[in-house]
Amino acid sequence: MTSTDNTETPLLTTFRFRSVRQSDGAALWHLVRATGTLEVNSPYFYVLFATDFGATSLLAETPEGETAGAVIGYHPPLQPETAFVWQVGVHPRWQGQGLGLALLQRWLALPANARCRWVTATVADDNAASQALFRRLARAYRTSCEVRPHFTPDLFPIDHPAEPLFRVGPIDRGTPVPV
Ligand SMILES: CC(C)(COP(=O)(O)OP(=O)(O)OC[C@H]1O[C@@H](n2cnc3c(N)ncnc32)[C@H](O)[C@@H]1OP(=O)(O)O)[C@@H](O)C(=O)NCCC(=O)NCCS
Repeated sequence: MTSTDNTETPLLTTFRFRSVRQSDGAALWHLVRATGTLEVNSPYFYVLFATDFGATSLLAETPEGETAGAVIGYHPPLQPETAFVWQVGVHPRWQGQGLGLALLQRWLALPANARCRWVTATVADDNAASQALFRRLARAYRTSCEVRPHFTPDLFPIDHPAEPLFRVGPIDRGTPVPV
């Protein structure tokens, strides 16, 4: 038995998955803008993340070099066994075709995430696609997806919806994940 299922479509084999480098910051910003749903942070944020957290971030490129999707993540300093998804996005052209799940699976398989047994993310209540994605990730690893209050509206300086924490795991890292 493997620790994950891999029912991937042939489409996914056309993408090139690779960890992020400093020069990808601008492409990440463009991708996040293109999703139309994600909160767009300043270009500086993406350059900073690409520089300092490139090893825990992953992008998918088309054969033409377009950025089709990305996971921007890091390890919370006090939780070394947790990989936090700051943002995951798939370009609208490629949404709903399995790329989001494939990104998260390959992201977890990055060497920098090898010790991680938990995946966390905050997901607003109105983001059905993201909720479905993390629940699907839990099913792929035959593990749980817990949801609990985390960032409540009162924490934000402006009007902002609650961002409950989705916590997927524990993830069995004993069996290598085919990528
Ligand atoms: C969320 C997102 C990354 C998912 O990527 P994706 O490639 O479209 O997702 P997948 O095709 O891999 O599907 C994964 C699961 O999500 C479900 N899903 C995808 N889009 C959905 C939608 N619009 N509504 C409900 N469920 C959806 C799929 O049905 C699948 O679940 P299932 O296997 O139980 O049926 C993508 O829709 C996206 O970029 N959205 C905009 C940005 C965003 O909201 N990011 C997350 C916040 S951090």
